[in-house]
Amino acid sequence: MINIAVLGHGVVGSGVVEVVETNQEYIAKNAGDNIYVKRILDLRDFDVPYADKFTKDYADILNDPEISIVVEVMGGINPSYDFAKAALKHGKSVVTSNKELVAAKGAKLLRLAKENHVNFYFEASVGGGIPIIRPLHSCLAANQIDEIAGILNGTTNFILTKMITEQMQFDEALKLAQALGYAERNPTADVDGHDACRKICILASLAYGKQIYPENVPTEGIGHVTLEDVDYAESNDCVIKLIGRVKKLDDEGNVLCMVSPALLNKQSQLAGITDVFNGILVRGNATGDVVFYGRGAGKLPTASAVVADVIDVAKASDTTSSLTWVDDGVNHVVDYRTTCCDYYVRISACDNRQAREKIKELFGEVKYLSRPEQPENELAVVMENILEQDLIDKEKILNADSIYIVNKIRILNY
Ligand code: HSE
Repeated sequence: MINIAVLGHGVVGSGVVEVVETNQEYIAKNAGDNIYVKRILDLRDFDVPYADKFTKDYADILNDPEISIVVEVMGGINPSYDFAKAALKHGKSVVTSNKELVAAKGAKLLRLAKENHVNFYFEASVGGGIPIIRPLHSCLAANQIDEIAGILNGTTNFILTKMITEQMQFDEALKLAQALGYAERNPTADVDGHDACRKICILASLAYGKQIYPENVPTEGIGHVTLEDVDYAESNDCVIKLIGRVKKLDDEGNVLCMVSPALLNKQSQLAGITDVFNGILVRGNATGDVVFYGRGAGKLPTASAVVADVIDVAKASDTTSSLTWVDDGVNHVVDYRTTCCDYYVRISACDNRQAREKIKELFGEVKYLSRPEQPENELAVVMENILEQDLIDKEKILNADSIYIVNKIRILNY
């Protein structure tokens, strides 16, 4: 019998209890032993048939030698980090769905797990029910990962899908996402890209072995994307998606890593991923592109990934050596302004003809896009392979001539 404790009885925590209960037999067969939820930590009271398992005191779990696995599904860093650390130090493995914790403290917790010959697993922290952590360090282990790009946030994908397919305004789509329970409690974590940032940091750290911290990753949300941009993208055979991406630049662990909205050609494998679904494209040097697709959130999909980790921990004889990265004290994220990218740029100018001349002078030949009901003073262009810093500098020159960039969105090739 393997006894586990669940920290947090929210959506995911109650899902874990449900999955362990419902799939008991299958789980026992896969784990080679029965798995039993012995304790649940939550400060709230619940009227459930297993109310006797609840405790408000973490010491009841920590000091129980029968509990060998702690499932942390509370979210946030405090007190999750302290709880996870204490569990590992007490020789208990930790399984978590908490992306904020893994993105901020992954290297430290992985090291602690190794020192104590236990495991720290976090499959559910990225992509909910989509297997991505294990494939990255196990199934794709023979590959060099050149690049990872993903639609890592269901809420923003839902909002953008509504904007694209129903011409719904951003605010209305956000309200709908909240009403359907997709958005985080504070939707800025979704809308401003921070949730996607934590997830790409976890994937980047695992793929390249060095901790990538969210605060070092340039992060843009979708708050500035408008229906006008959606229409211009459409005229260029593209859709707009929020993309978290990381690209290997050398063998020292240096990467280009960022989160931003992007125009993707409709032929892209990520372009067809709609609604709340997530998709992650891994570009390996042997496999080429591999795409993982599915439900990136939700009670049972996430709980399923958590319980799968519990099963794997139950089967592991020692710390899994491939699931690791280190914090070497170096920021490995290069300054994106030193890199080149294609851009869609929407411009407002009083004098359309003068603006076109100035654009040609600064950027050379560009492709002009159009949209229905395009106002006279609005221009939209595609610029190819422009140095990011160049665009920043030239925007100032445009402004001096009363030509203003209203929005600019990268065009990515996945
Ligand atoms: N708010 C997140 C999302 C939940 O929309 O994807 C899963 O991390």
